[in-house]
Order: sequence, then C-alpha cells, then structure tokens
Amino acid sequence: MQSTDTARYARCIEASKRIRWDIDRDVIRGRSFDLTHNFLPDELSLAHELDFLSADQQRFMSQVQGRTYANIFGLVERFINAKMLEVSRDHWFGDQVALEALIRFSDEEIKHQELFRRIERLAGERMPEGYRFDIQPNDVAHFVLGKSTWAVLALTCDIELFTQAHYRASIAGAEGLSDLYKDVFLFHWKEESQHAILDELEWQREDAKLSATERDAAVDDLIALVGGVDGILQTQAQADARYFLDTIGMAPEGARAAAVRAGLLKAYRWQYIVSGVSDPRFQKVLSGMITEAQLQRIQQALTPLMHAAPARQAEMVA
Ligand SMILES: [Fe+2]
Ligand SMILES: [Fe+2]
Repeated sequence: MQSTDTARYARCIEASKRIRWDIDRDVIRGRSFDLTHNFLPDELSLAHELDFLSADQQRFMSQVQGRTYANIFGLVERFINAKMLEVSRDHWFGDQVALEALIRFSDEEIKHQELFRRIERLAGERMPEGYRFDIQPNDVAHFVLGKSTWAVLALTCDIELFTQAHYRASIAGAEGLSDLYKDVFLFHWKEESQHAILDELEWQREDAKLSATERDAAVDDLIALVGGVDGILQTQAQADARYFLDTIGMAPEGARAAAVRAGLLKAYRWQYIVSGVSDPRFQKVLSGMITEAQLQRIQQALTPLMHAAPARQAEMVA
C-alpha cells in the first residue's frame, strides 16, 4: 500500500515538473479581454437557458460569471492551500516523495491565486463599473478550516475534479469563447489534474485514521461545508444579478429579473458544487468510505441544489 502510494505521489511530481507553466509567459502573454467574446462557455454559464435575453446580454452574462469565476477560485484556493500545508505535516519525517508532491501542490495553488487575481483585474479593466465581490478569502478559510480534515479534503476533491469538468466544457463550448479565458481553463486543468489525485490520496489516508463515530461526524461537517458554499453562491448570485440588471437596464422587479437571479444561482451551483459531486470518480471514492445511510444523508443535502429549475421559470416568463 505504502509503495503503491509513493509511486502515485511520484507520478504527480513528474507530471507537475513536465507541465509547469508561468502566468505571464504561458497564460496571459500580454493579452487583455475583448468584450465581444464569452468568458465562460454556455455549458457552464447556462446563459442560453435565459432565452428572453438578447445574444449581447447572454454574452455579458457569461462575462459577469467569468469574473466571479476568478474570484471564487481566489476564495477556495486560499483554504485548499492551507489544508494541504497542514496535512503535509504527516509526511515531514516520513515519505519524502509525498512531501515533495504536496509542496509542489501548494506552490501551484499560490500561483493559481495570483493568476485569478490578475484575471479579475483584467476583466475589471474592460467591464462596466459596478461589479461587486465582497466575500473575503480569509473569512471563508476560517469557516472551512474549522471543520474536520476529512470533510475539507472531500470538498477539495470535489473542487479539483470540477476544475477538470470545466476545462472539458471550455473545449466543447470553444466557439465564441475568449482565447485568454480558454487558456485559463487549459493551464489550470493541467496542474489540477495532479491535485485531484493528491486529494484522493490524502483523503483516503485521513479516512483510515477515523473511527466510525468520527467519520459520521465528518459526514455532517461535509454537509455543513456544502451548505456554506451554497450560502456564498446565493450571496454572489444576488450581487451579480444586481450588477447585470443594472448594467442592461432591466428593472429588478418582475418575472424576468427573478429568472436572471435564479439562472445565476443555478449556474453557480452547477459550476461550484454539482459538476464535481456528480463526477464518477468523486462518487466512487466517497462511496468507498461511507455507509449507505451516510451516503443518503449527503444525497439528501445535495438534492435541492441539483434540482433548481430556472429553465422552467424562464419558460413561465416567455
Ligand atoms: Fe488551482
Ligand atoms: Fe488545485
């Protein structure tokens, strides 16, 4: 088991060295954003579901969400990095290969935070005034890191798997997509592929330490974390809807404005929760650790997030 794991950590190091990229040289390359392009593909923004919006308005919707994408990653990568540094302690005087893999992981995550700050600034230079993102990375980190390590690693695994789903969506929805944003998806995915493997290894290692009672409490923590993430998404969906409606000059009352708010929340739940937990790999790892009753508890908590139906509300509007 030990040597199999060491080999997996070693493969992550090898891949990490091979694909290592630089923010300026490889990703940004002196470019800025062009507002004639989408920032997120339809498959992620779900902007096309709001079919009462014009093509220009749908594009703007993808840009608002693209800017929020950069900000949300800035939030989650703060706590992910702190947790990885914390769990690396177990390897300090043990498996030095595992330690190196986690140090590289942490270094990459620091770089990603800087990349996303740069993306936020570049988007801000071009987009109309009024955008707000008031959630603080350290506040979120304090909340998240207050939960059990097992739950934080589960959430981290979810996040790093959905990053890969997002890259696949950017390939499928490449038409009309900003070249710069396409590269953000591509380069982020390259390093996140290793992170997802390391999450799985660390999560399983943590799982082996827990008693049945502790694991049961950790399942509750995971449910609380998903609820916390959803709270963030609800707050930001409201803020982004205000900015969007204000900018396009649509009154905040009425069914169409309500459909915009619901559409944003649905898209954010899809991007930041559902696209990861519905990944077969996530489900396999999770279900290998917990009981049927615990799995049901988690599924129950996720159900309302998976069945939000703004498409239907938009139909009612039309
Ligand atoms: Fe990252
Ligand atoms: Fe990562």
